[in-house]
Amino acid sequence: MDKEQFIQQYAVERQGTNAVKWDALKERFGADDLLPIWVADMEFSTPETVKQALIQRIEHGAFGYTQVAQGYFEAYQGWQDRHEQTKFEKDWLYFSTGVVQSFYDLIACFSEEGEGVLIQPPVYYPFFHAIQDQKRALISSELILVENRYVPNFVDFEEKIKTHRPKIFLLCSPHNPLSRVWHKEEIAQLLEICHRYQVLVISDEIHSDLILPGHAFVSTVTVAKELGYLDEVFVLNAPSKTFNLASLLNSHVWIPGEEKRNLYENWVKRYKQTENSLLGQLAAKTAYETGDEWLEGLLAVVASNYAYVKETFAKELPKIIVTPLEGTYLAWIDLRAYVSEQEVKKVVQDTAKLAVDFGEWFSPNAQGFIRLNLATIPQNVEQAVQQLVAAIKK
Ligand SMILES: Cc1ncc(COP(=O)(O)O)c(C=O)c1O
Repeated sequence: MDKEQFIQQYAVERQGTNAVKWDALKERFGADDLLPIWVADMEFSTPETVKQALIQRIEHGAFGYTQVAQGYFEAYQGWQDRHEQTKFEKDWLYFSTGVVQSFYDLIACFSEEGEGVLIQPPVYYPFFHAIQDQKRALISSELILVENRYVPNFVDFEEKIKTHRPKIFLLCSPHNPLSRVWHKEEIAQLLEICHRYQVLVISDEIHSDLILPGHAFVSTVTVAKELGYLDEVFVLNAPSKTFNLASLLNSHVWIPGEEKRNLYENWVKRYKQTENSLLGQLAAKTAYETGDEWLEGLLAVVASNYAYVKETFAKELPKIIVTPLEGTYLAWIDLRAYVSEQEVKKVVQDTAKLAVDFGEWFSPNAQGFIRLNLATIPQNVEQAVQQLVAAIKK
């Protein structure tokens, strides 16, 4: 499906639908006259096939306790085969209500209070919350910029592990907000270090379907399998980011190691009694079976919005640095050449009237950066960029 067709068929107005992005502006930003281009969901409806499957189920009218939909595993593996070439086994798979919930759960299950969890900021801010809310020790090894591309600082990564002996490394792959799609060699090197110091690896792969042309996603599970470290990794993924289904509360936890599965099951017995999300699983199964063309259309829109952002800044404010978009639909932008770190909020929010994710949400060292969400209609991206250019010039 091409970009124009996709926009025509799927663009939706979300204001007034209890959308956090649009309807919680006052609460989150203290003002409601902002153009929201922040939280990672979309102004596009899910594929028509998914909508129709949900409508049909809703027509039935009974929503009692439910078992996993027949054909779910086949649909899910079929999608993985076509898009990510990742093989999971059925007994690795557990359902959850979301990826954030799942990394909270795995940290609770596989570490104790006071023990360390390692992350690579700038990174998705709930990573910090999951560690701090659960009284684990936060250990950071910041990603570093080498020739306009963020890479792990392997020396520092190993040094932090040697010094602080964390129990868990929480990896974001592909990376939000830096949009890196990690190479196999990078993941392998991280896994090697973790293996050496007996650090478990939780790989958050919620963005794994959102890959721009020229890049290829490699799951941590694939690399761990080749290295013989399958028992030391966990993968979290979901169709929610890909198909705009976050509120239907269906996500996956993969635990390849049998001993780890036993520990997790014992923990679940004590702390979690969730049932399956009927509508969430129906939407996921249908999207996995029929969402290929829709995703192609979405990625065309994202690529075109990204090109607009890059070209416009290059022309109007050439010292703004837009990080290359490899994966996700989130653009990471360095405004520091024009705006002092203390003034970013004033310029972006008060003058340009934009609600964005600010750099310091992802790392205390990322003041002066912003994250823009490109999974929206081109008019929103154009308006955001124009307002930002005008505000900075002013
Ligand atoms: C890296 C990452 N993990 C998890 C989530 C949210 O997952 P969920 O809605 O399933 O809790 C997001 C949403 O933006 C994300 O970027």
